[in-house]
Amino acid sequence: MSTPYRVAVLIGSLRQASFNRKLALALQKIAPPSLQLEIVEIGHLSFYNEDEAASPPAGYAEFRATIKAADAVLFLSPEYNRSIPAVLKNALDVGSRPYGQNAFNGKPAGLITLSPGALGGFGAHHHLRQVLVCLNVATLPTPEMYVGGAADMFNADGGFVKPDTEAFMAKYLATLADWVGKQKG
Ligand SMILES: Cc1cc2nc3c(=O)[nH]c(=O)nc-3n(C[C@H](O)[C@H](O)[C@H](O)COP(=O)(O)O)c2cc1C
Repeated sequence: MSTPYRVAVLIGSLRQASFNRKLALALQKIAPPSLQLEIVEIGHLSFYNEDEAASPPAGYAEFRATIKAADAVLFLSPEYNRSIPAVLKNALDVGSRPYGQNAFNGKPAGLITLSPGALGGFGAHHHLRQVLVCLNVATLPTPEMYVGGAADMFNADGGFVKPDTEAFMAKYLATLADWVGKQKG
C-alpha cells in the first residue's frame, strides 16, 4: 500500500464536548487507508499580532511547520453568529504569515460545517471558503457539507448513530481522497 496522505484536521471549537471534535474522532475511525487524519490543536495559539518578530509567540513555528508538512487540510467547524469561530480564523491568520510564507498555500482541503441547528453552518461555511480562496487553498467544491442535527449524530462509543450518516461521511472522505490525489498530481 502506498503512503497515506497526511491530513491536518483543524477543529473550529474548543469546547470539551464539541460535536465537531466528535466528528473528527468519528471520521478517524472510518477514514480510507489513503487518508491519515491528524487533529492539529489551535486553541493555544495567541491572537495574531503582526509585530510577532519582536517576540515570537509560543506554538506559531510548530503550527506552521505542521501545516506545511501536511498533504491536505480538513476543516471541521461550527458556526458562530453566522461566521467562523475566532479560534479558527486566528489559526488561519497565524498560518498565513509571515507574508510570503503562507503555510496553507496550495493545499487541497475538505470542509464540513456541523451544527445542532438545521442550517448546518451555511454562513460559516461560505465565510471560510472565502478566506481559503485568499490563502490559495484548493477546497473540494462539492459535495457541500452543511450538516445539521449534530446533537443526535454520535453514539456513546464515538461512532455515528445512523448507518446512513456513516455511509454519507465515508463517501465524503473517499471523494476527498480522490480530490487530494488529483491536486497532488
Ligand atoms: C458565540 C456563539 C454563536 C453561535 N452562533 C451560531 C450560529 O450562528 N449558527 C448556528 O447554527 N449555531 C450557532 N451557535 C451554536 C453552535 O452551533 C453550537 O454551540 C455548537 O454545538 C458549537 O459547536 P461544537 O459543538 O463543535 O462546540 C453559536 C454558539 C456560540 C457559542
